[in-house]
Amino acid sequence: MDTLAWNGPLPRHLAIIMDGNGRWAERQGLSRLVGHEQGADVVREIVRTCRKIGIEALTLYAFSAQNWGRPDEEVTALMSLLTRYVKSERSEILDNNIRFNAIGDLDALPRPVRFAVEELVDASSEGKGMVLTLALSYGGREEIVHAARRLATEAAAGRLDPKSIDAGHVEAALWTHGLPADVDLVIRTSGEQRISNFLLWQLAYAELWFTEVPWPAFTQEHLFEAFTEYGARERRFGELASRERALC
Ligand code: IPE
Ligand code: IPE
Ligand code: MG
Repeated sequence: MDTLAWNGPLPRHLAIIMDGNGRWAERQGLSRLVGHEQGADVVREIVRTCRKIGIEALTLYAFSAQNWGRPDEEVTALMSLLTRYVKSERSEILDNNIRFNAIGDLDALPRPVRFAVEELVDASSEGKGMVLTLALSYGGREEIVHAARRLATEAAAGRLDPKSIDAGHVEAALWTHGLPADVDLVIRTSGEQRISNFLLWQLAYAELWFTEVPWPAFTQEHLFEAFTEYGARERRFGELASRERALC
């Protein structure tokens, strides 16, 4: 399908839980690592499509705070793949005016990953085309704890009146500050129907779309399937649908 053919409603902020790399590989008798490598190729394709069709913000769950609990061999391989991914995508990201961003406990990352990430965040900081955020060593609870600590520190120093704290203050203290704050659509691949500690605050009114397709087999056609369903949903944000409002 031609990417430019897409002209339906689009989410402004799309977030993806890229799951199923390991199982995809194991089902074919391959090592989980092969699944992660194929997954990185899919990231490249999906980033290209999102940039072309005009998504403003794409946030990808690449490594969770809890993924550190996997066997050392898998963690090491994932870290090395991340470094390679960031370096190999550098020129395409810059050429396409993408702003590269990362959220999570970046200090926990091995130095080569952190340096490559920080270098590209810096080099692409003027990008106006799309903001691509990788969630790395990321947990939604950890992010909220971090924000609470920041606000408490400000309050203890007398720079913030605790009674004045509202949703805007919390948002400003989250790692996602500066992004279109709310996620419009979340896609999770590979059949699991859970959030797994991803963007807990930011998903408050996101539409959720689940597919059985594992991430390494995910294509632009699947992405457009999600957009088609997204476009058909009615988002009410706790209020009444427009037709019901008209009857009041
Ligand atoms: C997602 O795929 C990638 C990461 C979590 C790093 P998984 O590695 O979770 O693959 P499955 O879910 O075990 O198949
Ligand atoms: C979520 O997938 C994390 C990423 C996709 C990076 P997991 O595979 O870690 O989540 P669970 O263990 O199935 O909840
Ligand atoms: Mg998984």
